[in-house]
Amino acid sequence: MRTDKRKVALIGTGMVGMSYAYSMLNQNICNELVLIDINRKRAEGEAMDLNHGLAFSASNMKIYAGEYKDTSDADIAVICAGVAQKPGESRLNLLKRNAAVFKSIVDPITESGFNGIFLVATNPVDIMTRITYSLSGFNPRRVLGSGTALDTARLRYLLGESLSVDPRNVHAYVMGEHGDSEFVPWSQAMIATKPILSLCDEQGEGGMEVICGEELKRIEEEVRGAAYQIIEAKSATYYGIGMALSRITRAILGDENSVLTVSAMLRGEYGQNDVYAGVPCIINKNGIFRVLPLDLNEEEKKRLGESCDTLRASFDELEK
Ligand code: 2OP
Repeated sequence: MRTDKRKVALIGTGMVGMSYAYSMLNQNICNELVLIDINRKRAEGEAMDLNHGLAFSASNMKIYAGEYKDTSDADIAVICAGVAQKPGESRLNLLKRNAAVFKSIVDPITESGFNGIFLVATNPVDIMTRITYSLSGFNPRRVLGSGTALDTARLRYLLGESLSVDPRNVHAYVMGEHGDSEFVPWSQAMIATKPILSLCDEQGEGGMEVICGEELKRIEEEVRGAAYQIIEAKSATYYGIGMALSRITRAILGDENSVLTVSAMLRGEYGQNDVYAGVPCIINKNGIFRVLPLDLNEEEKKRLGESCDTLRASFDELEK
């Protein structure tokens, strides 16, 4: 991959795609961004609008509306296209509606000669990423989804608030499906190197806030319900996912080897196979450099297994 050019192709210029593009513009992550949408006029308008912000940004980006052939020399193809989640609708319900449009997206990208990394955000993201993998025939390490990256950010934010700690010093992950069966492996949750579960047993040692099991449960529930709550209030979520996607893009283009909870194909890790699910991975210019195997306890392994079973079942349902 050429990292000098840092070209990103964005497919889908709806709210999620454009929040991502806007965040990229503000963070100077790539220097060429092509916007592709079934509605060409919309992509052109969005490109114009972003270009008018260039004079105020620290970025020196080439931004334009394009076609699938423009993905041929892109480093990353970010797919945000798809129909939106309705209020109260589970992400898995979206599956059939979104699966239909993916063939018309992935095929022309691969036919263009694209040889980069697929990053998928369309929901249900774990399934859509697996569909992208199947359609593309790419090495699964070069096909990843946003997975539980955003859920993990939500968890860190809430834990940071509850414990009065900078979320960047909270090391805790949401794993499994980006959806109803996701879970937090609390045995692996730390503030710096201090296990969060140990704070439940101590009485505010060292001036730390005391956090009890009930509070952790509440936080986990709040993370799981966050998207529903936002959709109820404003019909869609986009800023958070846009930021999560730009963070993953930065890790890839910058060859960072950063740990992020993306949707990755599991090939024996955690005893799981043939499923895309959110797990902490080391991300670099090759996409998923490796899945990081955490030391989950038996209960947590079981929960991950259940979440993977849910994902496998919906993929199989689609294949029927
Ligand atoms: C989110 O979690 C809806 O997947 C979207 O914000």
